[in-house]
Amino acid sequence: MTSLKVEVAALKLSNPTILASGVMDETAASLLNMARAGAGAVVTKSIGSEPRKGYPNPTLVELDWGYINAMGLPNPGIEAFAEEMRLARGCPAPVIGSIFASSAKEFSFLASKMQDYGAAAVELNLSCPHAKGYGMELGVDPEMVSAVVREVKSVCSIPVFAKLTPNTHQLMEVAKAAEAAGCDAIVAVNTVKAMAISVEMRRPILSNKGGGLSGPAIKPIGLRCVYDLHSTLNIPIIGVGGVEDWRDAVEYIMAGASAVQVGSAVGRVGLNVFELICTGMKEFMVREGFESVSQMVGVAHE
Ligand code: FUM
Repeated sequence: MTSLKVEVAALKLSNPTILASGVMDETAASLLNMARAGAGAVVTKSIGSEPRKGYPNPTLVELDWGYINAMGLPNPGIEAFAEEMRLARGCPAPVIGSIFASSAKEFSFLASKMQDYGAAAVELNLSCPHAKGYGMELGVDPEMVSAVVREVKSVCSIPVFAKLTPNTHQLMEVAKAAEAAGCDAIVAVNTVKAMAISVEMRRPILSNKGGGLSGPAIKPIGLRCVYDLHSTLNIPIIGVGGVEDWRDAVEYIMAGASAVQVGSAVGRVGLNVFELICTGMKEFMVREGFESVSQMVGVAHE
């Protein structure tokens, strides 16, 4: 019997597609919608200690091959988010709490809150490419990443995932530091630093000027990162970046991912993207004689 079930760092998923952080995931209602649409797990919007407005508009540019966004980590703050997590209890798919912070102590505070609120795992945003004092400003430093993961692991019994940036030549060192500090899985990769300019306005379109590129444009970058991480790490990898159909998902899995996150494709393809990926993947597995997803993980290395 062909099965799409996967286990990632003790999380049991009905299929290997996960809603990526930042897309339709700021309320319980939207998280439940995505789970009902077929996601094997859902990741929340990145939540910080205090409410945050984010950047003024424009915050998103649509391109042929993806989006450039710079939202500025808008969120209601961890205390207010408790209510959304309470309403999301009973979600048919595990809810993973994404958090961002400026220090190891603040990360561990937020992680223990997410655990109290019922999150099945916590995802550390160490990779937002454009928020001063947050994200990749910490996540390109292996020592800082090690300190953050160690601190979070000391207060959390749920699995801890680190979402890393491709905007560094040190990705392997950062990932190894996270693994050595006890991280349970690596999520690779967040968006790639990018910009768009309006020639009529003669200036960058985004209010923040720079943003992060997502979607099909970055799939080859994410894929290469996952391939290299698989050669380097022993913990599971969750691939993200331009997954729009079953073939993209299988590519990531063959590169070494145990599961994939889907973000931009929710907007570009539609809510049925999870179902379409799963149907196509199952048909491929039947055709090719794979009985489980785990049989496909990393086969491109053999
Ligand atoms: O602008 C944002 O909120 C993006 C966050 C991220 O890329 O992690």
